[in-house]
Amino acid sequence: MNILVVGSGAREHALCWVIAKSPLADRLYCAPGNAGIAHVATCLDVGVDDTPGLLAACRDHAIDFVVVGPEGPLVDGLADALAQAGIKVFGPSAAAAILEGSKGFMKDLCAQYGIPTAAYGRFTDAIAAKDFIARTGAPVVVKADGLAAGKGVIIAETVPDAHAAVDNILGGQFGEAGAELVIEEFMDGEEASFFALCDGTNVLPLAGAQDYKRVGDGDQGPNTGGMGAYSPAPVLDAAMATRVMAEIIRPTVAAMTAEGRPYQGVLYAGLMITADGPKLIEYNVRFGDPECQVLMARLASDLVPALMACADGGLDTITLDWKDEAALCVVMAANGYPGAYDKGSVIKNLDAADAMADVTVFHAGTATQDAATIATGGRVLGVTALGSTIAAAQQNTYAAVDLINWPGGFCRRDIGWRALDR
Ligand code: AMP
Ligand code: GLY
Repeated sequence: MNILVVGSGAREHALCWVIAKSPLADRLYCAPGNAGIAHVATCLDVGVDDTPGLLAACRDHAIDFVVVGPEGPLVDGLADALAQAGIKVFGPSAAAAILEGSKGFMKDLCAQYGIPTAAYGRFTDAIAAKDFIARTGAPVVVKADGLAAGKGVIIAETVPDAHAAVDNILGGQFGEAGAELVIEEFMDGEEASFFALCDGTNVLPLAGAQDYKRVGDGDQGPNTGGMGAYSPAPVLDAAMATRVMAEIIRPTVAAMTAEGRPYQGVLYAGLMITADGPKLIEYNVRFGDPECQVLMARLASDLVPALMACADGGLDTITLDWKDEAALCVVMAANGYPGAYDKGSVIKNLDAADAMADVTVFHAGTATQDAATIATGGRVLGVTALGSTIAAAQQNTYAAVDLINWPGGFCRRDIGWRALDR
């Protein structure tokens, strides 16, 4: 079977890395890929948003199965276009991807089907939004309804901050994504990421993970796409995972089917584990990045049959085994990220880090130039290692990070602290 992975991040590198090992994969392609992905797949120069180009690539390379990494093309209907062309695809239809594409849709679904989440209101009008804020008080969370590259969420500590967020978002800060607002009660607790594969009917839970969204040590500074992650997440023990499946994931999958939007793909629940139990913060319709890197490092089974079952049905016949070891990923980013960052700096000694036992360096924003690896993006590398415990995985990961010679980049030095503090 010929397989095409769509995307260019470390998440897609991790997916290609496991898919390349599958006996089911004859040829593996990635569009557009990056310098690291080029070691395990043939990279095609087609962007993730270029649907006609992706369809043409599928024809040219006799692709049997497409695995879509990022949310943007899913929300825009890439899975539908591929299915219409008769190509099997891992990833939800646009009708189902609305779970991530519209926070308002997700909140209304939760309200209608009794899925635990923060109390909320939906607004297109600033006066009504500020009325709601007057009643809830601060802290309060103001969100743009649509996709805003992870930046459309403002945790307002004061009422004036909340008002400013309302005015900025409705004033066009996030374009069309901010034409509508969701305002939410602030939930206190510990965050965790939960992943489940779905075929529209059956649900297969994957391992849990936690990520680190802030750019700086001690969870300081602005939010990013994610600066590190580990799996398993101690806060998501077996009992909590059972609750999450029963109270959140299964009711959502059933609700989506009842709404005529059967969910097929990976469902990523961003959770707050509160004193009252697990509550949903948000849904994503794709794997987390960097959570995918630690999940793939721990996976002991062939992923391809499970991904195909999401498209074909029959997920109830699939089991996935996980290594007992913990995995931890540290993201190395270009200096300046998540603001304006430098491009083109040279990264040296990657091979030495990658050659360490139980270490894999997943690439995100990299390219090859004159035989050197250069940084081309904000998040550039996801250095990932296994260990018998999270502490051991952390030690191995930072030993690998310290071998990499890249003055143009930085990383957090404290990934894993939340688990180690417990
Ligand atoms: P989201 O993009 O919806 O995942 O939000 C980004 C981050 O904002 C989350 O990872 C949480 O840390 C925080 N957040 C979002 N909604 C809430 C909420 N209702 N209460 C507390 N924190 C929240
Ligand atoms: N790690 C957060 C995300 O993928 O959205």
